[in-house]
Amino acid sequence: MPEKKDVPQEIKDEIESLVKEVNDHNYRYYVLDSPVITDEDYDKLYRRLIQLEEKYGYILPESPTKRVGAAPLEKFAKIRHAVPMLSLDNAFSHDEMREFDRRIKKLLNRKEDIEYTVEPKYDGLAMELTYENGFLVRASTRGDGYEGEDVTRNIKTIRSVPIKIEEDGVVPELMDLRGEVYMEIGEFKKLNRRREAAGEPPFANPRNAAAGSVRQLDPSITASRRLFLACYGMGVIKGVEFRDHSGFMEWLRKKRFPVPATFEKAVGIERVLEAVGRIEQKRESFAFETDGAVIKVNDFGLQQTLGSKTREPRWAIAYKFAAHQASTKIKDIRGSVGRTGVITPYAVFEPVRIGGVTVTKSTLHNWDEIKRKDIRIGDTAVVERAGDVIPHVLMVIKEKRTGAEKTVPVPKHCPVCEGAVVREEGEVAVRCVSLSCPAQLQEKIIHFGGRNGMEIEGFGEKNVALLYSKGLIKNFEDIYRLKKEDFLNLPRFAEKSASNMINSIERSKTPTLARFIYSLGIMHVGEYAARLLAKNFARISDLYHIKPEKLSAIKHLGDKTANSLTVFFGDEKNIKTLETLEAESLRIQNPDFTAARKKLPLEGMNFVITGTLPRPRKEVEDMIEADGGHASSAISGNTDYLIAGEKPGSKLDKAKELGVKTISYEEFLKLMKSRSGNPSLF
Ligand code: IVH
Repeated sequence: MPEKKDVPQEIKDEIESLVKEVNDHNYRYYVLDSPVITDEDYDKLYRRLIQLEEKYGYILPESPTKRVGAAPLEKFAKIRHAVPMLSLDNAFSHDEMREFDRRIKKLLNRKEDIEYTVEPKYDGLAMELTYENGFLVRASTRGDGYEGEDVTRNIKTIRSVPIKIEEDGVVPELMDLRGEVYMEIGEFKKLNRRREAAGEPPFANPRNAAAGSVRQLDPSITASRRLFLACYGMGVIKGVEFRDHSGFMEWLRKKRFPVPATFEKAVGIERVLEAVGRIEQKRESFAFETDGAVIKVNDFGLQQTLGSKTREPRWAIAYKFAAHQASTKIKDIRGSVGRTGVITPYAVFEPVRIGGVTVTKSTLHNWDEIKRKDIRIGDTAVVERAGDVIPHVLMVIKEKRTGAEKTVPVPKHCPVCEGAVVREEGEVAVRCVSLSCPAQLQEKIIHFGGRNGMEIEGFGEKNVALLYSKGLIKNFEDIYRLKKEDFLNLPRFAEKSASNMINSIERSKTPTLARFIYSLGIMHVGEYAARLLAKNFARISDLYHIKPEKLSAIKHLGDKTANSLTVFFGDEKNIKTLETLEAESLRIQNPDFTAARKKLPLEGMNFVITGTLPRPRKEVEDMIEADGGHASSAISGNTDYLIAGEKPGSKLDKAKELGVKTISYEEFLKLMKSRSGNPSLF
């Protein structure tokens, strides 16, 4: 590598201008949040700079390439803060803020209003950055306030942190700058998603994520975490003087340091409270987490007079907003059933106050989420409730487990009605399919009476809710037990409207099977599937306890539909409801079945041939197919008939075993004839 002195002037010039340019773009991107070039153009400049630096060995101390590339450390060195890093006193109400103001006036022996500054309180990690003659030489954590850890190499990876102070104007000989390193909420969520995908434990909040990212012995990990800094104060400073905090902040801003997102001066405590209110209002829209506002006496002279207690200055206070998070115990995990039958798990907590509201339960979204977050009964959960958002469990604290925690299985029955449930492959939702589930009844009845269903005029949302609330319909069967007097006793109903209702209920008593099936609102059974079923089954009772094979043999009927039907018609209570409806009220017609039989006499029937028949096997198979039947080679529970010729072989035994009817070729011909001649025979 050539010595520095050999570097041609024009290369030095180019490197210097590239460093300036890249730093400039970093500032625009990371501090001002308004880039002026594309990422690709930025990358080009950056790569050119690296290339020249490597070739000529001419690397400026403020070069952006120096932010990364340091090797991992064994452990952090300790650093003593020249001026201790204090903490802040807290106020939780306006009254406590007024008390703070009174105290200050008293200590200063002043009657007139004090000038304060108001800025957000960043929820991150306090940091001291030492600049000597304009260069960042050290960065240390707060530690115990007196002594922290040397995290210089990590802090240098934060792009918004200037490595060199702008030369325009005075550059202090020494400056211990203080600020908060934080992670934006969006980045925190992304990081947690990545960690969970990699099987690593998630961070509980952006503050922990920022702290975890700064306290990394390998700076390349910190570099990958996209951290930010907000500067809010100073320790020792030499070579430049400031009258007040706002002047210092303004100077920092001009020198391209990142300062708090909002900053206001306010004279008198009432104006301060208004400014605090403005921050609280903006709180949800900030990209970073803030748990309060920091209020400081602006004038440095007054700050000095006021001085500090052991741990906190007297001239500043943090006004805390209501917390968004709290931890509490999960007492139970239960399922709630929505109007569409979806069973959603929720956690029951030991009551905990979050953001001024007592939270006793929260949704757990779905059963996969419980598994993914490994949430158990008895766990201590971190619960979040931000703004208007409903509370949710962020994570459980596994370190607090005692071993007595219980996992919760996916429910096998509906928690409301004990009915059968389905969970489809690849789907997270678990649903109750019971017709008599109180949680779904209203919704189901509205669908039942709706268009394309039973068409009961007047069975809209309002009337159904009314009938339900008056206890007049507690189940499907009750619809047809309604009497005119029942309606006359309801608000909004008179003689005519009550008669109309009774008439429309009466008119709905002779549905087609297709409409009736559709009106039951079985999952995945729309009009098309309902019609298909009506074509294949004469009566609704043919579907009771139906075997999945029977359904999967129906052409064009999907697997999901078949599965859903099997569960629905496998539920004893559903069958009971349907039986009662038929026995007490309905006369179901099925023109679709009749029409289908007329066209193709063997439709829906499965045949298997064995042995030698009087005609070639292929010919018999063609006859079957031509009449709408299906000829297959293997016997199963699906087979309707085995046509046995001479020397039938093992299929005959199999048929006996499965209870499949065996017929001769002659009987087969008779069957065909009888079915095409008189379809109603079947
Ligand atoms: S001023 C003498 N301003 O809050 C103390 N602190 O709870 C000077 N913090 O340790 C602190 N945002 O880490 C100040 N705008 C802000 C702040 C802020 C966050 C942190 C800081 C401090 C802690 C005290």
